[in-house]
Amino acid sequence: MEKIFGKPLITQEEILHRVRELGLRITRDYEGKNLVLMGILKGAFAFTADLARSIGIPAQIDFMMTSQSPTGAGRVLSSPSLVLTGADVLVIEDIVDSGHTARIILDALAAHNPESVRFCALLDKTAGREVSFAPDYTGFSIPNKFVIGYGLDYKNKYRTLPFIAVLDQTS
Ligand code: IMP
Ligand code: MG
Repeated sequence: MEKIFGKPLITQEEILHRVRELGLRITRDYEGKNLVLMGILKGAFAFTADLARSIGIPAQIDFMMTSQSPTGAGRVLSSPSLVLTGADVLVIEDIVDSGHTARIILDALAAHNPESVRFCALLDKTAGREVSFAPDYTGFSIPNKFVIGYGLDYKNKYRTLPFIAVLDQTS
């Protein structure tokens, strides 16, 4: 694979340390609840797998798939498979930028009558926000740069990198 990124913005060790911290908080917050982890494909596949294994209470796993066009208009490509009535759903997303995708996910989930819905984002580019939205749990706030790795892609590549790097747009 052609190398088009510099040194990691967030190392594998930093990611896994932060994921464990988030897992402990979620474990405390969801004690006694009917937790459903809703991973958002494809970008959150790695984060969902690591976070799920850092959570110390029983949880069900489900997935939704979203896509976004270059204009930022995201859409839901596949819906949850579990019955979410009465569930405490925690959305697990790779990154929040404009906030449009998060809003679309939350609107789609509301139609399933869950007991509660919260949002956990590994990365937050707050400077990119176009609609008002704040995740309930955030791994890292990052500058308004395009990043790849640990699930995040550029043209469907680089998802498999174990760390997060800024895409070098000069190449
Ligand atoms: P938003 O709708 O603008 O908040 O964008 C959210 C979606 O855009 C995420 O689920 C990602 O798939 C994608 N995205 C936004 N910023 C980046 C980035 O820096 N790298 C890779 N994907 C990104
Ligand atoms: Mg995504």
